[in-house]
Amino acid sequence: MLIFYRQIDLKDHLKSISAPKISIGFVPTMGALHQGHLTLMQQSLKHNDFTVMSIFVNPTQFNNSEDLVKYPRTLDRDIEKIKSVSEQIIVYAPSVEDIYNGKTVSQSFDFQGLEHQMEGRHRPGHFDGVGTVVKRLFEIVNPTNAYFGEKDFQQLQIVKKLVEILKMPVNIVGIPIFRTASGLAMSSRNERLSTAERESATMIYKILCQAKIQFGTKSASQVSDWVKKSFDRQSDFRLEYFEIADEATLLPCIRKSKFKKYRAFIAVFVNEVRLIDTISLN
Ligand code: PAJ
Repeated sequence: MLIFYRQIDLKDHLKSISAPKISIGFVPTMGALHQGHLTLMQQSLKHNDFTVMSIFVNPTQFNNSEDLVKYPRTLDRDIEKIKSVSEQIIVYAPSVEDIYNGKTVSQSFDFQGLEHQMEGRHRPGHFDGVGTVVKRLFEIVNPTNAYFGEKDFQQLQIVKKLVEILKMPVNIVGIPIFRTASGLAMSSRNERLSTAERESATMIYKILCQAKIQFGTKSASQVSDWVKKSFDRQSDFRLEYFEIADEATLLPCIRKSKFKKYRAFIAVFVNEVRLIDTISLN
């Protein structure tokens, strides 16, 4: 396994292996790796000649400075996890300086409205930060295919929009959510939950599954009301939003259309820890 800390060294290496028809798969992450990240990596390994995985906690996408400080940084453990799957991975673990070169600020993007919904509404500036770092990483790695999880479905749609707007020659691949046996979506933030909190957090996916069933016969607003009431009864949860939205535009579903695909999106605080999840409703 190769690990590079500076883009100049990574670029040199990528230049040395590049050739016509050689494909590079890319998996950008912020580390604290879990099985969800490893699933993305396995898909990349399967479909590309080389796979690059980046590990970089991107400061510009955190709207909450405490969240940035508390974000787990576990590089040694991450490297062991990567090695246990494959020795063939090229890891890029840059410093903030290597990515931002003294100017740790976001570029501002127009994602044609995708950025104003849900996560964008509750985390101002978040998607400008994501767009800035993903664009920079794509420029450094120049991947053929890049892998993103449906766990962050809004981010996946925004990255697709980013490459469309900037006409970047990279194929964006979405990968289904990896869940624990109890249904909890794997997340680096789960590490901050106590055993009891982790157990109660399984309620999130159960509610999403119920919402999916209800959406078969009820309106989006009826389902949303039921979800809100269910969380009101739980003292250790604070629901930030629950929304049923059009998968393509991310606009809230006002009246159901059989020609559209819908998805439920949720953000909940389990005590101090903010978790998100999503489910397809079709
Ligand atoms: P991070 O939260 O580390 O996630 C890296 C990738 O793993 C994302 O594409 C995310 O959707 C995917 N992922 C996380 N949990 C998953 C799960 N349970 N199942 C499937 N995929 C999962 O998302 C980011 O980092 C950052 O915003 C980044 C894109 C790296 C830009 O900084």
